[in-house]
Amino acid sequence: MTTPHDVTLIPGDGIGPEITRTTLDILEAAGAPIIWRECVGGVTAMETVGEPLPQATLESIEATGVALKGPLTTPIGSGFRSVNVALRKHFDLFANVRPAVTILPAARYPDVDLVIVRENTEGLYAGIEHFIGMENDPRAAAESVMLITRYGSQRIVRFAFEYALAHGRRLVTLVHKANILKCTQGLFLEVGREVAAEYEGRVEFDDKIVDATAMQLALDPYRFDVIVTGNMFGDILSDQVAGLIGGLGFAPGANLGERAAIFEAVHGSAPDISGQGIANPTSFLLASCLMLDHLGEAPVAARVRAALQRTLDEGAARTRDLGGSAGTVEFGDAVIERMERPTS
Ligand code: NAI
Repeated sequence: MTTPHDVTLIPGDGIGPEITRTTLDILEAAGAPIIWRECVGGVTAMETVGEPLPQATLESIEATGVALKGPLTTPIGSGFRSVNVALRKHFDLFANVRPAVTILPAARYPDVDLVIVRENTEGLYAGIEHFIGMENDPRAAAESVMLITRYGSQRIVRFAFEYALAHGRRLVTLVHKANILKCTQGLFLEVGREVAAEYEGRVEFDDKIVDATAMQLALDPYRFDVIVTGNMFGDILSDQVAGLIGGLGFAPGANLGERAAIFEAVHGSAPDISGQGIANPTSFLLASCLMLDHLGEAPVAARVRAALQRTLDEGAARTRDLGGSAGTVEFGDAVIERMERPTS
């Protein structure tokens, strides 16, 4: 009998509780050995305990080391700052991993199967920016610093190679802009080549300029396997590859560090459809599969993915975003009906 895993669960805001309920039902049917430690975050936490990221939630993630997190609403302009960013900083979740796999039948790009590993803490998103005043204009100019460190580059590239080894992937492609940004991107590439040498003979390595990568992804995504890149390029390219496989509704994400791993759907809290029971739970369900893989429960994850694939292939239930009329619960039930029963 497997020892159950303790996992922090943050259902989140908007459609979060709806897709969480369905995902948990599916995981239970798959026999996932998990004890959920439910916590609050975001607007829901603001309304119930008066702060967006309560200490109890942080302590729970510190204790379990693993969280499944629903989307959290970030108020625009005023109000509290992004809880997602706060979690990333608190736990130093330096690696953002976004696998992109085609699961929709008749997708424009069949059989895409690649992973983007994005550095999550440095680059242009480090937040080092300011305005420069001139004459009467306090905002005459603005500048932003692209922070790249040897340490940060080493750990993300090494992470990508270790990920490739652990997941049986053959090639790591480092994406950069070193032809123009010779210091920052040059350092990232230089460190990448050094780390790649440690893996020679085990995982192949090449590098590519980001603009050429964007074009190649559209022309021939099959030539890529694992892409490792900086914060901004990773942000943009991971949405591009989500587009190749049918959109953000099919893209799960993981934010990983030494102390914690947080799994989430990449879409937001969808306030426009919240409470209507029509949200598509697929992205969140796929995020829970990444979590199962991380917990060493790959056979359970495989059962869930197979049932999801059968549901989509048969067109058994389609949510509205896919042109169907099924609700969240109905879709979840269709997946559960197609689940191979776990052998106990
Ligand atoms: P969004 O992803 O929530 O919604 C964009 C569009 O996609 C909407 O029309 C929505 O109805 C649709 N959509 C999203 N998920 C869906 C699903 N599972 N099924 C069916 N349709 C779905 O992006 P938006 O509107 O920009 O952001 C809303 C809130 O979510 C904001 O407060 C934002 O800050 C937050 N957000 C949180 C994220 C997170 O917690 N990781 C990520 C992105 C946004």
